[in-house]
Amino acid sequence: MTSSGRFITFEGIDGSGKSTQARLLAEALRARGREVVLTREPGGSPGAEEIRRLVLEGDPDRWSAETEILLFTAARRDHLERTIAPALAAGQVVVCDRFADSTRMYQGLSRGDLRALVDQLHGLMIGREPDLTLLIDMDPELGLSRARGRKGHEERFEDMGIELQRRMRAGFLALAGEFPARFRVIDGGRPMEAVTADVLAAVERELA
Ligand code: ADP
Ligand code: TYD
Repeated sequence: MTSSGRFITFEGIDGSGKSTQARLLAEALRARGREVVLTREPGGSPGAEEIRRLVLEGDPDRWSAETEILLFTAARRDHLERTIAPALAAGQVVVCDRFADSTRMYQGLSRGDLRALVDQLHGLMIGREPDLTLLIDMDPELGLSRARGRKGHEERFEDMGIELQRRMRAGFLALAGEFPARFRVIDGGRPMEAVTADVLAAVERELA
């Protein structure tokens, strides 16, 4: 895969402000004349959006962690083939709300330690990491109350509760320590404009 473009991902717990910041970043980059593809996971291609419904709706016990790893990775492979790789090859900036780090956390840590399995399948089927990952770090209680304020029907993971949110937060911070070259940790517990300013500063350094 050629990748003359840049691949930027947002990660963090539910309700931390990823989708808001991804949208604001895409707008800011477009205003500066960059070609931007704004996308999300699970989803980002027609097939992957179909898989999204399977994994985000319904009973929290609907799938085992192992089955989820396969479903999220299948969605990601389709998203990569059809949306991300073509955009990067065309020199565009891809801004993606969640990517493989979310699988490392949610499927890798939520029900036992399956991180090695996640990494193995990632190596076989995806084999691509972002150039820059913005971790929006936030207090789990605040994140959950913001996420619940949205009142959607994609609640399988939010329904797993505050304890899961706490473990995901700690896991994401540890992951940032594991991959310091591509991770930037941003404090999401502040007004939107302050978070956006830090996001833009990190992205400007990456694109320079
Ligand atoms: P995520 O994609 O991480 O789940 P969202 O971007 O959907 O988070 O934000 C969750 C909710 O919190 C939304 O209602 C959004 O408008 C609100 N929100 C986002 N960023 C902030 C912020 N910095 N301060 C207050 N509310 C915020
Ligand atoms: P998302 O729509 O980003 O939710 P939110 O805006 O609340 O953060 O993602 C939906 C859920 O999917 C989220 O709870 C995390 C979960 N998820 C995984 O479990 N594994 C994955 O690989 C991805 C991409 C998401």
